[in-house]
Amino acid sequence: MATDEITLHRGLSGVYFDRTETTFIDGREGKLLYRGYNIHELADASTFEETSYLLMYGELPTQAELDDFDATLKANRNIPPEVTGIIHAVKDDHPMSVLRTAVSALSAFDPESEDNSSEATLRKGIRLTSQVPTIVMAHHNIRNGREPVPPTENLNHASNFLYMMDGEEPTPETAALMDTDFVLHADHGSNASAFTARAVASTNADLHDAVTAGIAALSGPSHGGAAENVMTMAMEIGEPENAEKYVKDLLASGGRVMGFGHRVYRAEDPRARHLRDGVRDLSAEKGEPKWYAILEAVQKAMSPYARRGIHVNVDFFAGVIYYLNGIPHDLFVPIFAVGRIPGWTVQVIEQFEHNILIRPLLQYAGPEERSYTPISER
Ligand code: CMC
Repeated sequence: MATDEITLHRGLSGVYFDRTETTFIDGREGKLLYRGYNIHELADASTFEETSYLLMYGELPTQAELDDFDATLKANRNIPPEVTGIIHAVKDDHPMSVLRTAVSALSAFDPESEDNSSEATLRKGIRLTSQVPTIVMAHHNIRNGREPVPPTENLNHASNFLYMMDGEEPTPETAALMDTDFVLHADHGSNASAFTARAVASTNADLHDAVTAGIAALSGPSHGGAAENVMTMAMEIGEPENAEKYVKDLLASGGRVMGFGHRVYRAEDPRARHLRDGVRDLSAEKGEPKWYAILEAVQKAMSPYARRGIHVNVDFFAGVIYYLNGIPHDLFVPIFAVGRIPGWTVQVIEQFEHNILIRPLLQYAGPEERSYTPISER
């Protein structure tokens, strides 16, 4: 095809490449549904366990189904000692790189690692949902010279995650906020990491391959890394009265305000409001209201950009919540990954069930055809 007949869709922006029955996003309205249920209802009333079941099986569970699913999640929290050994060996790397390496290694110990049937992939996704929090917190302790805190079956997913940080059970309020955070991050359509996972699955590679690649894609600051950068920004701002000048200077130098903007949303990211209230309450409870005040001031400074469709996204509030719970900055992206395993799993299953190799085209923009010159004549 002549190059002037090609329509380029850089970044695949606005391109539909397949169908999904999992997550619906209306970016203009700021609407997000998991399997038809509004994210606002799920954030207010559901739990990560129930939402994961919904995503993975397509329907809300009965109490008996939820109990069974919960028991399976709890029973699969341990990781093989060999994987703990690998975490020791790479402990000085960024936690996202350690997570990527450990998930890749887990495939060697999974009894169904190469079985790409929907049933086996779902079982592997449930195991990974349980194991990923254990990897993140085992690494956190190992790099601090401590023994990992083993997971407990006495706590729900969010509480157990926080418990494995230092062996302390979180308060019910803290655990509930973490649970909501996981619900909000469980799936989000064809974002960069889910697309990457689908592209890997489209070659008939397996779930561990796809999730390992998804973790790699999530690690960048334009996708998962924004929460970490928002906290760095809040610390640099220091006091609410500095926010306006900070934002002005950043934008004037061509920088981006982290936690703002989204490829899909032109209205506010519907996930943001559930964490906004959490930051406000937690900042007050911890006697550090300035963090909420700084975020408010940044939002005010960014308000002229709302006309251009640049609003806060989910990551704007998440970072301060993690910080106020004593979680180190570089664990913020791994927390996103902990929440996202159900989403990657169902999207990989969808890919397998209607598989087509993902293989787009690149428009050639290099030199015209030319003759090879022997090296002696160059
Ligand atoms: N601060 C200032 N200006 C912005 C921002 C921002 N955060 N985001 C977009 N813009 C401007 C951008 O400069 C551009 O302006 P112009 O047209 O004058 O060149 C315009 O908006 C469009 O930007 P774009 O890069 O073409 O839009 P995109 O859809 O490719 O970018 C984004 C999406 C998320 C990469 C971008 O908004 C960004 O870098 N945001 C900051 C990082 C961030 O918060 N990421 C987390 C996303 S939410 C978590 C998730 O779901 O992955």
